[in-house]
This record gives sequence, C-alpha cells and structure tokens, in this order.
Amino acid sequence: MMNFTEIRERAREVLTGNLVHNSEYFYTCPSIGTYQHQWLWDSCFHAIVWSYFNPENAKRELLSLIKKQFANGMLPHMCYWKKAKGVFPRLGDWLFKRLWPEPDRSRITQPPVIAEAVTKIYDTTQDREFIEQILPSLIDYYDWLHLERNEQISGDGLVSIIHPWESGMDLLPTWDYIHKITHFFTLRAGLWLSKLIKEYNKVDWQIDRIKELNLFLVKDVAFNVIYILNLEKLANLCDLVGDQSRKEQYLSRAKKAQKALNNKCWDDETGFFYSIFSLNNEFLPEKTISGLFPLILDIDRNKIERLVNEHLVNEEEFWLPFPIPSVAKSSPNFNPRGSSMVLWRGPTWFNSNWYIVKGLQRHEFDEYAQHIIAKMCEMIEISGFREQYNPFTAQGYGAKNFGWSTLIVDLLR
Ligand code: GLC
Repeated sequence: MMNFTEIRERAREVLTGNLVHNSEYFYTCPSIGTYQHQWLWDSCFHAIVWSYFNPENAKRELLSLIKKQFANGMLPHMCYWKKAKGVFPRLGDWLFKRLWPEPDRSRITQPPVIAEAVTKIYDTTQDREFIEQILPSLIDYYDWLHLERNEQISGDGLVSIIHPWESGMDLLPTWDYIHKITHFFTLRAGLWLSKLIKEYNKVDWQIDRIKELNLFLVKDVAFNVIYILNLEKLANLCDLVGDQSRKEQYLSRAKKAQKALNNKCWDDETGFFYSIFSLNNEFLPEKTISGLFPLILDIDRNKIERLVNEHLVNEEEFWLPFPIPSVAKSSPNFNPRGSSMVLWRGPTWFNSNWYIVKGLQRHEFDEYAQHIIAKMCEMIEISGFREQYNPFTAQGYGAKNFGWSTLIVDLLR
C-alpha cells in the first residue's frame, strides 16, 4: 500500500511533468499526452495542489489565466498558448480550435473555481500583495457571471451555462435530453457541440440572441454550487482588503442563488437535485454527480441526509466499489467504462470526489469521507493518476498523469 509521502511525491512529479512555460506564460497542462493547453478549472485545481509544493507556481498559474481574460470579465475555459503536438491533441485542435472567434482562447467559460484557488494561496502564503494584484480580475469575472449569466437570462440568482463544456462535465447524459440523442455516440455529440459554437458565432455571442436561440441554456447544479461557494470566498477576499460593500454584495448574491437552487432544483419526491432548463425551470431528470454537489453547501439537514442516505451510500446508485461514479448506476445511461472520447458517463473523477468529500466532512459524515479517500488512494495504487476510473475495478481511462487527480494531496493532509 502506498503511503502518504509516496502519494504526495508522485503527485508532485505529475504536476512538475505537466509544466509548460516560457517568458509569457506559466501553467500546468492537464496531461502532456492528451491535453496540452491551459484549462480554467483544471488550472485552479492545479494551483490548489501547487500551494502545498510551491506556492509561487500556484500564483504564476493563475496570473497566466487572467492574461487571457476578456474585456467584459469572462475567463475563457481554454487558453491556447502554443501549438499542440502529437496526433490526438492536434486532432482536437483541428476539430474545435478553429471554430472560436479568437485564435488564442475559447469564448465560453468553465466552473468558477478561481476564488477558492486564490483563497488557498492566501491561506498558505498570507501574501496580501498577490490578493491585491489578482482581486480586480476576480471581481470582473464574478460580476460578469452575475450580469450576463444571471440578470440577462432569468434573474433569479442562478447562473446559466450556454454549452456543455462550460459545465466541465462535457458528455454527461443530462445533455442527451437537450440534443435529443437517444443512442449516444461521441461523433454525433461532437458534431452537436461544434454546431452550438457555429450558431453562437452567427449571433456574435450576444447573450440576448443566445437566449432567443435557446439551443442550450441550463442552470447546472454543480456549476451553481461552485459559483455560490466561490462568491463566499470572494466576499472574504474583499473583506481582507477592507471592501465591505462588495463583501455584502457577494454574500447577498450567494444567498439568493442558494435560495433559488433549493426552490428550483430540488425534487422532494426523489430527494435529489437536478439541473434545470433555464427558461422554464423544467428538470433534466438524470441522476448524476452534479446533483450531489449541494452537499458542500450549508443547506438544510433533511436534504443533506436524503442526499447521503438515499443516494450517495445507495449501492444501486453511487456507492460502488470505487466511488463516486459520475452517473448513478441505476440510470440506463450509466456506463462504467470511459475513454479519451467518452467522458462523464459513469466513471469516477477525482475533482468531483474532492468536492463531495469536503461536503461530507462539513456535515460530519467523516466515516464516509474517509472511505472515499481510502478508495482514491487505492485507485492511484492500481492505475496511477488517471483522468477517470472504472467504479467497479479502478481501471484507469483517458489521460495519463492527469493534473487534477493530484487533489488527493489536499484530502490527505
Ligand atoms: C475534459 C473535461 C474537462 C476538463 C478538460 C481538461 O474535457 O471534461 O472538465 O477541463 O478535459 O482536463
């Protein structure tokens, strides 16, 4: 059995091996073999882990990210700093990169984890100067989310995503309901994903036109939970620099979003949270890991207990030998096998585990949290730091030496 020190050392090697830098940029790519560009939420997770090994790297990673921030405040989900190498990465670029209006970044965002990453860096370094340097970008980003993705779409406090990639859970079966794919296969989904970008290009990415098109407008549970959590972190950062009025504003946005999440995404009959269509608030009725994310928040005890007892530790749903699968076993769309092309349709991912474990610890389900952490160590032992794991066998799928799987370090401290 690998011990804590060995896992930590292996994690450090993974992150170090994935560093990409020159005088202009400095980031950790998710995986040299598969994903060579800079991704938004990956970089935030990497920064969180870097804060244990080398906080300067964590800072540089985030400072590179904000270099590609749009004038309106949006942080792109991908920054293309350099040309990809190798067959698979180049195929990805050939298929998608050329669709974006800007050659060096995408026009969509990803779950807003950055305030949490900055907070982690501050907790480790107490570096106020860094906070002062990066805070204006964070403010612009979360204000953009509020204005463009909340106020201009439905105004109930929840933010909408306009493309499956924004969820960070690209091919989740939840999206099948929107692109009306009855028999999923990646090529078809890929064509639809690129079609969305092409349609948005035609309306010049204006949010009112995107709303009219209504091709993909979703209030995703996990995205919103991360948004709420990060608004709270951002409020603390504002407090730190003495900006009380912003602090209050972000806390009140978080509160409003949480209220709407409880009212609109919770289904009392099944005791679960579902993502909803943004314009009519209808449920997207698929049980996925996204619906467990509210465990991280301070929501009422009854809901927490139902999520844990009826779903998380239910062997027909999420309590599989190597938890937590991205889709409940009971779903007809559940597929325990993944690949570089089939993502988020069943296998276990470490970033979602990291969130759920923290939620369990927050609500005093320490035994379950410990069980998941022990299983994560076993997965690393069996398959190394992979992108995804088979929830029955721990077989690894997709990218190797995958960056955010090093989040285990933050759970083992
Ligand atoms: C996949 C994941 C996405 C991640 C990216 C880079 O597309 O679905 O969440 O950001 O890979 O790791």
